[in-house]
Amino acid sequence: MTTDRYAVAGHPVTHSRSPWIHARFAALTGQDIDYGRLPCPLDGFAATVRGFAAEGVDQPGAPRARGCNVTVPFKFEAPALCAGLTPRAALAQAVNTLRFDPEGWQGDNTDGAGLVADITVHAGVPLAGATLLLVGAGGAAAGVLGPLIEAGVARLVLANRSAGKAEALVERHAALAARHGVALHAAPLDDCGRGFDIVVNATAASLAGAAVPVAAAVLRPAGLALDMMYGPAAAPFLTWAREQGAQGRDGLGMLVEQAAESFLFWRGVRPPTAPVLAELQRLVAAEG
Ligand code: ATR
Repeated sequence: MTTDRYAVAGHPVTHSRSPWIHARFAALTGQDIDYGRLPCPLDGFAATVRGFAAEGVDQPGAPRARGCNVTVPFKFEAPALCAGLTPRAALAQAVNTLRFDPEGWQGDNTDGAGLVADITVHAGVPLAGATLLLVGAGGAAAGVLGPLIEAGVARLVLANRSAGKAEALVERHAALAARHGVALHAAPLDDCGRGFDIVVNATAASLAGAAVPVAAAVLRPAGLALDMMYGPAAAPFLTWAREQGAQGRDGLGMLVEQAAESFLFWRGVRPPTAPVLAELQRLVAAEG
């Protein structure tokens, strides 16, 4: 048996926590994998990933790459490399997990399942019947909208700076929302409603040094306010949410859970997530 190789492909990937998370999963499940970083030039995603997949192909017994995660800004480019997509990746039109099957690459999107698991299991907040505001309509929001609908929220409002992007996402998910009895609407940032049970920040506003782009009235006291980012990038949103009496939560739980879904997609084994999340939270907190 040779070690199977995986990596996270993105630009940049220097600070990615994925290698650490997958190393912990491998240790806890006894899976023999090596997970590294695959930096891709902005105009060279496909070539870099194809090169990674081809490494060792001429050397019998050499470790082979079996798949990779895909992160910013390539999630929308990755579907074009796939022979098949899981239904949730097809709906998102974005892929964060590639599996290099010999008969054709398969693409999945595990971000939404990761967010749903973090909210319902780790945060202990029910999604069924909840009202939810999703702020942002870029790649991060596209990946989670379908699974949030399938989790049975009662009402989901998608608010974004550019109205057209939110409307397009809502339109693409309208049939799914109808099947699940979810009231799904697009709304402008400055008029998106009040008192939601859950507010999820999927914007890159903090990276641009901009303020939280919605009014405090969107939060309800003791409601859940989750930023998909973590570390300093999540701090402005979490501080804002806690000042309003909401329960602030960063994206570390989602990160670990989406990684677990990728691991399952590749290895057929579901790794334990709670101890890995607890360790990662301690690690990130110690780094300040
Ligand atoms: P990602 O893959 O992280 O979602 P993206 O596709 O570039 O990255 O999307 C970034 C999201 O953050 C978008 O919803 C963007 O709004 P627009 O669609 O209007 O561009 C949002 N965003 C970025 N900066 C923002 C700001 N200063 N205020 C509000 N929204 C912002």
